Amino acid sequence: MLQDHGIHLRAVHKTYRGRGSEVEALKDMNLDCAPGSFTALIGPSGCGKSTAMRVALGLEDYDSGEVRIAGKPPAEATAGGVTGVAFQDAALLPWRSVERNVSLPLEVLKRDPEKYRHEIEKLIQLVGLRGYEKALPGQLSGGMRQRVSIARSLITEPEVLFMDEPFGALDQIRRRKMNVELQRIWMETESTALLVTHGIDEAVFLADNVVVMHSNPGRVVEAAEIPFARPRKMELYSDPDFHALCEKIARVLHGE
Ligand SMILES: Nc1ncnc2c1ncn2[C@@H]1O[C@H](COP(=O)(O)OP(=O)(O)O)[C@@H](O)[C@H]1O
Ligand SMILES: [Mg+2]
Repeated sequence: MLQDHGIHLRAVHKTYRGRGSEVEALKDMNLDCAPGSFTALIGPSGCGKSTAMRVALGLEDYDSGEVRIAGKPPAEATAGGVTGVAFQDAALLPWRSVERNVSLPLEVLKRDPEKYRHEIEKLIQLVGLRGYEKALPGQLSGGMRQRVSIARSLITEPEVLFMDEPFGALDQIRRRKMNVELQRIWMETESTALLVTHGIDEAVFLADNVVVMHSNPGRVVEAAEIPFARPRKMELYSDPDFHALCEKIARVLHGE
């Protein structure tokens, strides 16, 4: 098992057991994200993407296998502030301002937000929300809330960044703009990133590696390397080579 600063899942099995029902959510799940790389995980709804991510975050137990996040067991990595997380619904606390949502992970780690004034300001600027520091989530658009969520996931300067459909609620144009921004932020922070998405184009645009899962049971069926040079620009979305690669991955995704 690799002890580097990447994300490693080895032969992970996870079955959800309910009253008289069993779901084999992950079967022999293997995933390797090299330190500093950007990996996108795609697959049909219910194939186990979120389960894999929750296992990697230590939020979910697994039956067998091995998981190492930046060389540590997942719960330890999360508790130590090694990981940052951004979820689909942004999950902001509605009664806290933008800056106090961004600083929340610091409080969880018992760090003094006052000492991070400058970092909080910088991150809010990075995600394009300067001037909204004191605003409440209810006063923001869906896209702005998701950007707060991204800023919050970065405040502890995580070595490993997990994102589960962070732009799920956005329209395509906004989403593509966010993809360009996310790439820039990720390149600046040099973190190891794992993005769960159902958008093939988003996966190909952002990732060094696109990992495809199938369901019942959830497992990885293919990993494709994405060769386009960085920083990737918006124009890539209309590049014929880009489309050809998306098509190829779509065929794997749909089991053709
Ligand atoms: N807490 C849970 N209890 C029981 N079954 C679950 C639970 N969470 C997910 N599942 C099931 O596990 C499978 C994988 O779910 P999930 O990881 O959420 O997939 P995805 O994120 O790819 O849509 C699905 O069949 C889902 O219904
Ligand atoms: Mg999911």
